[in-house]
Amino acid sequence: MSEQIFQPNPKFAETARIKSMDDYYALVKKAEENYEGFWGDYAKEKITWKEPFTKVLNESNAPFYSWFEGGKLNVSEQCIDRHLDDKKNKVAIIFEGDNGDKEMITYLELHYRVNKFANLLKNEFGVKKGDRVVIYMPMIPEAAFAMLACARLGAIHSIVFGGFSAEALRDRIQDAQAKVVITADGAYRKGKPYMLKPVVDTALEGETPVEKVVVVQRNKEDITWVSGRDYSYNEMIDAQSSKCEAEVMDSEDPLFLLYTSGSTGAPKGVQHNSAGYILWAQMTMEWVFDVKPNDTYWCTADVGWITGHTYIVYGPLAMGATTVMFEGVPTYPDAGRCWKMVEEYKINQFYTAPTAIRVLHKMGEDEPSKYDISSLKVLGTVGEPIDPPAWKWYYEQVGSSKCAIVDTYWQTETGGHMISPLPGATPIKPACATFALPGIIAEVVDVDGTPKPIGEKGHLCITKPWPSMIRNVWGDKERYVKSYFGDVTKEGKAVYFTGDGAMIDEKGYITITGRMDDVINVSGHRMGSAEVEAALKKDSNVAEVAVVGKPHELKGESIFAYVTLKTALDETRFEDDVAMVKELNTIIKKEIGNIAVCDNIVFVPGLPKTRSGKIMRRILRSIAKGEEITQDISTLEDPSIVKQIEAIVNA
Ligand code: WT7
Repeated sequence: MSEQIFQPNPKFAETARIKSMDDYYALVKKAEENYEGFWGDYAKEKITWKEPFTKVLNESNAPFYSWFEGGKLNVSEQCIDRHLDDKKNKVAIIFEGDNGDKEMITYLELHYRVNKFANLLKNEFGVKKGDRVVIYMPMIPEAAFAMLACARLGAIHSIVFGGFSAEALRDRIQDAQAKVVITADGAYRKGKPYMLKPVVDTALEGETPVEKVVVVQRNKEDITWVSGRDYSYNEMIDAQSSKCEAEVMDSEDPLFLLYTSGSTGAPKGVQHNSAGYILWAQMTMEWVFDVKPNDTYWCTADVGWITGHTYIVYGPLAMGATTVMFEGVPTYPDAGRCWKMVEEYKINQFYTAPTAIRVLHKMGEDEPSKYDISSLKVLGTVGEPIDPPAWKWYYEQVGSSKCAIVDTYWQTETGGHMISPLPGATPIKPACATFALPGIIAEVVDVDGTPKPIGEKGHLCITKPWPSMIRNVWGDKERYVKSYFGDVTKEGKAVYFTGDGAMIDEKGYITITGRMDDVINVSGHRMGSAEVEAALKKDSNVAEVAVVGKPHELKGESIFAYVTLKTALDETRFEDDVAMVKELNTIIKKEIGNIAVCDNIVFVPGLPKTRSGKIMRRILRSIAKGEEITQDISTLEDPSIVKQIEAIVNA
């Protein structure tokens, strides 16, 4: 099946923005011939500038690139105010609660609510341009209002996913030196209330830069209120004026930070700036999802991840679309929930992760056929490779073999899609991200920039700067340069390396082969092995630890930890093992959150290390997979350790 090519639906192509591969190649050529002209024209066309930019791309301080210098704008105006002339009564956000509650928020209403929120932050809590505001929120419309309110004031938001623990939240608050936290008491999941505010309370214990906490009361459960620090949004919002002048922002003023894992060290605060980010968010919404004025678009991500930023809030609103926000989970009350929502809202574009597709396939193979989901036109996937069986089910059962599947490849750092099919143009190869979008120069190369021959795996690089690229690692320029521009050069110049491997076939299709570093992809979420290892090392019994990814049927990868203990466990091993595994996972939940829990923890007498002390994770990956070890192990300090570990894992 993987060799089969699926042509775009001709009826869809007729009205698509990019209708054919000829259209696509014309745009690619335009960008190649005049890179700055290409981007400059789109920036003029798509962004409502308060003052025009004077320079498209400034490379003089590479790899700190700047785009659209001299331009002034406000991203909240790009997403809201400019639509009030012709779309004020169009629904901007459809909210569906876990229990099925529905709320329709028009662009006018959105304007009203964001302005009030901005005034609350500004007048009551002194939030101003450049301040960092941490948002720790469930999937409720107030999360989007909070983001846009920050953008309106020029404050830099940093959303922390609600699944992260108090420790992880504390680290991110500290690193960004946030002054305000916006949170909720909690929300609902699978019919039951769950809590967030107590996590914030723990995160703020001891010394903290946070002065004020704004609490949206969603589930109205009992919470502790710290006097002088915690304030109820619900009680204060009515008194705020609904007019808040938008701050005049430079193109390169920061819009937000989003922490993500790298292969080493603590999470990095990926910084995105204003104009370039919003331009590409909007353009990719238009090209890749081809959302039309009367369409309803649904991305199932959480606002805590980059997908939620770009493709639930900023992209859809910048283009004036109707975007769905869903509080619940796709399998509650049953595996038909998503298809029921597709029917009810007549959803036209549906965007989710392969993990969700695998779960929905497994739990409800026939569920799609129970609903009228004929409104669907484009299906999207993101975050990890999609395997052919999941792809086939998605294409046939969900898309009735008439919807394009856009397998979008990108990263927190890229801000928006980099490699993706275009639904009206690209002949699709299943489980393949296909081609770089026009204006994006993606190459598969060696470390010295030499293109890899057809069919050979190499470093996936974006070799020219693009508008929505990461601008910095918050507070750490050196780490920015080292992490992204430290591995590959082309013609002597450092180029952006994604961390992923890829290969290109004879027709130019790009297939992502997975991370080339020690990053693990669990359910489409990035986990750094170093981060999990650091958490495990907090246990006083642990001497050494190495963490790797192991292929997992539903999650893509699961986390597999090899641990050596300071004192060996008792001879009556089994119960000790179980207790110790539990203890270690409890630490992980505390330090990082449930998403980092290890499916396997094994206690081994030692780790495979080179004579210079480097842990050979490749060997550990093979053992976790149950593969024969084919690597040369003679260079290990103690080659016999490999057999010992294999015996323990295979026991
Ligand atoms: C990493 C980025 C992009 C938003 C969600 C994840 C992997 C992403 C694909 C895809 C194969 C993919 C890469 C990438 N990835 N999309 N379509 N096919 N792999 O964002 O947490 O920044 O992770 O996800 O390994 O580097 P993220």
